[in-house]
Amino acid sequence: MTGELSPIDKAKFSAAKRAADMVEDGMRVGLGTGSTAAWLVRHLGDRVRDEGLRIQGVPTSSRTSQLARQVGIDVITLDEAGTLSITIDGADEFDRNLNLIKGGGGALLQEKIVAAASEEVVIIADAAKEVGTLGAFPLPIEVIPFGWTTTQMLVEELLVSADVMGRRITLRMNAGKPFVTDEGNYILDLHLSRIGNARQLAMALNQMPGVVENGLFIDLCDKVIIGYSDGRVETRDINQGTVEEGQIDLIENDNLFSDI
Ligand code: 5RP
Repeated sequence: MTGELSPIDKAKFSAAKRAADMVEDGMRVGLGTGSTAAWLVRHLGDRVRDEGLRIQGVPTSSRTSQLARQVGIDVITLDEAGTLSITIDGADEFDRNLNLIKGGGGALLQEKIVAAASEEVVIIADAAKEVGTLGAFPLPIEVIPFGWTTTQMLVEELLVSADVMGRRITLRMNAGKPFVTDEGNYILDLHLSRIGNARQLAMALNQMPGVVENGLFIDLCDKVIIGYSDGRVETRDINQGTVEEGQIDLIENDNLFSDI
């Protein structure tokens, strides 16, 4: 099966496998959203099925919830869980301080709430997600549909004095209509090219009436696991200052997802 995957999917597969192996019996696990997080959910489902791993998963989107149930993970709400042992999620960009841009899949609000409720946040990614400075990936912000054009104008004004390179804003669309999040909101994508001060921008955006949350995840991530297409994995721990290298056996894992 992994033989049929593209190099980028093998990288995502490997990072997700390494992260899934960190999950222990009895943990309450935040389950991220996106293509990398989907690999994680499948790996965890495999461990539930083959090893009898007992976990409770809190999904960060309706998509992830559906997949988690499909692969046999016991799904609970964040309110039922209270706090979480670990959250494992993907990212659109990460920098050397493990600050992130998230929300490419439109799930940033639930993802941030779940991350904030977790003792440990682990990001899984392929190497292309690493950047020197955040901002090449358009920054998603979730906005209330009521008066969203006014909110967009206010954000445009805010960007004039912000340390960013670009200021174009687009409304995220889906099949000719505004994309609607699981919480019933819209997403504005901010094409900033380069964000000079991500912490300041994150705080300023969340002051705006109409803005529910932004996709900058500052000081939330503890570890990043970078996967490569040959099965190599690198785990960086920002708290310990350590870097660990490992190897996922892609041949051994070859028949894992033959049913997908
Ligand atoms: C969803 C996200 C995703 O984690 C992010 O978009 C990365 O997705 P992928 O793993 O498909 O590259 O933030 O809101």
